[in-house]
Amino acid sequence: MDRIGYAIVGTGYFGAELGRIMNEQENAKVVAVLDPDNATEIAKELNCDVETDLDKLYSRSDVDAVIVASPNYLHKEPVIKAAKHGVHVFCEKPIALSYSDCDEMVRTCEEHGVRFMAGHVMNFFKGVRHAKKLINEGVIGDVLYCHCARNGWEEPQESISWKKIREKSGGHLYHHIHELDCIQFIMGEPETVTMIGGNVAHQGEEFGDEDDMLFISLEFPNKRFALLEYGSAFHWPQHYVLIQGSKGAIKIDMYDCGGTLRVGDKEEHFLVHETKEEDDDRTRIYHGTEMDGAIMYGKPGKKPPMWLHSIMKNEMKFFNDVMHGAEVSEEFMPLLTGKAARAAIATADALTLSLNEDRKVKLSEIKN
Ligand SMILES: NC(=O)c1ccc[n+]([C@@H]2O[C@H](COP(=O)([O-])OP(=O)(O)OC[C@H]3O[C@@H](n4cnc5c(N)ncnc54)[C@H](O)[C@@H]3O)[C@@H](O)[C@H]2O)c1
Repeated sequence: MDRIGYAIVGTGYFGAELGRIMNEQENAKVVAVLDPDNATEIAKELNCDVETDLDKLYSRSDVDAVIVASPNYLHKEPVIKAAKHGVHVFCEKPIALSYSDCDEMVRTCEEHGVRFMAGHVMNFFKGVRHAKKLINEGVIGDVLYCHCARNGWEEPQESISWKKIREKSGGHLYHHIHELDCIQFIMGEPETVTMIGGNVAHQGEEFGDEDDMLFISLEFPNKRFALLEYGSAFHWPQHYVLIQGSKGAIKIDMYDCGGTLRVGDKEEHFLVHETKEEDDDRTRIYHGTEMDGAIMYGKPGKKPPMWLHSIMKNEMKFFNDVMHGAEVSEEFMPLLTGKAARAAIATADALTLSLNEDRKVKLSEIKN
């Protein structure tokens, strides 16, 4: 196929960089952007047009696909409208803040015969791909249990980003859906889930209204379990996914960045990102003062760090290849069938119900 023309909806921190990266891909060009606040500057940089109306944007003959990187609560309309105009979709995570919205978005894309790709970027980490390969080869035996932590401490904020408002971001669980998605790629979908937590240390005008401590348990068939913790009320920051198998274990550590395979008394180390330099840079950022605890949020005008830029490149190359008709391997298929999107949001919704109603929730209550 000839050149693919891309539109970007939402050219803040992430959307602008996805645009820069997409312009470097083969036979790819960002032709127009739409953003109520940041479009003009980014359009100049990307040498493309500014549009202010979604229908007009999607009616352009040079727009084949859209990259949706607006705030989390504003993904639905640009995705549904794109599908109805026959425009293919890449949508940032979390796809939606409710299962019914997510399901409608994926279904509308299916009904109109356009591609839908979930921007679950952790699947493109070299270390995550390596861990999945080791698991598929049986190196750690059956996966019995996964544990993840993604937490840090948040200081008072001068202004409150939409990322800290529950209604707009979904809070820590939806906004940082990466680790839940990663665990579900490895273990499948849980049958029953529980979440406890609350806002324990961040009330008042200098903070958003999200819960700053969330503790999650997932119960899978055959006595398999996972525990996840998220939040910004932890003075001992951590960020990792630990996978415990019947023969060995794997740790993907994003804080002291590096991967470890442990079988018996032998340990093997592998990279989480593309190069040692990228892993070290991530460690340096987490341990440095550039971050607010262990929770890093970009904002318009800021550029992503080296390790993230690299993964975004992998992700955009993949999406552009798909747009040019490349075959999709089994490893990435759930990102393109709506499976990963639906599974992540269904579990997040079940967990929210669990917290709100103070009880265990079956996934079948959300997905039926
Ligand atoms: N995969 C990742 O690792 C990762 C990292 C950062 C952000 N993200 C996702 O990317 C999306 C954007 O996040 P961000 O960090 O760039 O936030 P941001 O606040 O920097 O940018 C959001 C942009 O959307 C624009 N916007 C607001 N309302 C809009 C509308 N109705 N239509 C179009 N644009 C609108 C804003 O003006 C802003 O420029 C979010 O969904 C976020 O979860 C993903």
